[in-house]
Amino acid sequence: MQNGNGYEIQVDNYDINTEALNLGRHLCSQLCDKKLLHPDSIQYHEKSLTKFSGPIHLAVMVGIICGVEDQLARVLLKKVFGQLESKGRLLVTSSNERMRCDSPLNSFIIQHIGTPTDPHQSWGLNFRTRAIMEKLLTSCSFKVVAIYDDWNYPGIEELDDDILYGVDTLPSRIMGHPHSGRPRILPYEEIRKQREGYNWIAIAEKP
Ligand SMILES: C[S@@+](CC[C@H](N)C(=O)[O-])C[C@H]1O[C@@H](n2cnc3c(N)ncnc32)[C@H](O)[C@@H]1O
Repeated sequence: MQNGNGYEIQVDNYDINTEALNLGRHLCSQLCDKKLLHPDSIQYHEKSLTKFSGPIHLAVMVGIICGVEDQLARVLLKKVFGQLESKGRLLVTSSNERMRCDSPLNSFIIQHIGTPTDPHQSWGLNFRTRAIMEKLLTSCSFKVVAIYDDWNYPGIEELDDDILYGVDTLPSRIMGHPHSGRPRILPYEEIRKQREGYNWIAIAEKP
């Protein structure tokens, strides 16, 4: 698939969970129907992300290291580092200490949410500080480009209110649960600007 700049794009999705991959397949098929993605450019692999082989230009790990201790996070990050091409980048997120301290209900819900097929399957969380996030990356030889959080990532100011405050109902509709799309209520903009969000969004580069 050629993107607007003429680059070939190949997206490889790795997950050890069948349901997660199926959800991804359904989501992407809707995007393909709308000609926003080309089906040939997307592959799904029911495998650990430690099993992929590069070279890769951009790795995205959203919600993956939140649930694993630093020791295992380093194993995963080193694997990604090894597969990236030179100057390749990684986007990696982690829950942070702000969630633990400011939103115990939020963190409780995530840690006990369960899944439709297994009410006891929950997501453990690590609440990393910015310094720990940085150390994790540099100890795996990455150069840290920036560490944002989910209230200050680039472009947030340009987002329309219906995107920033609205609900993307596609995932729940795909899973057969109608959703009214009631808006999320985020803190007022002036409050958001004073504080950090509950997840780090780190950008790192292979030198
Ligand atoms: C909190 S979910 C995040 C899912 C998705 N990235 C998102 O943001 O909606 C964590 C996912 O990581 C997957 N996972 C955990 N360890 C993994 C590994 N070693 N390789 C691939 N996927 C893994 C789990 O199966 C689960 O689907």
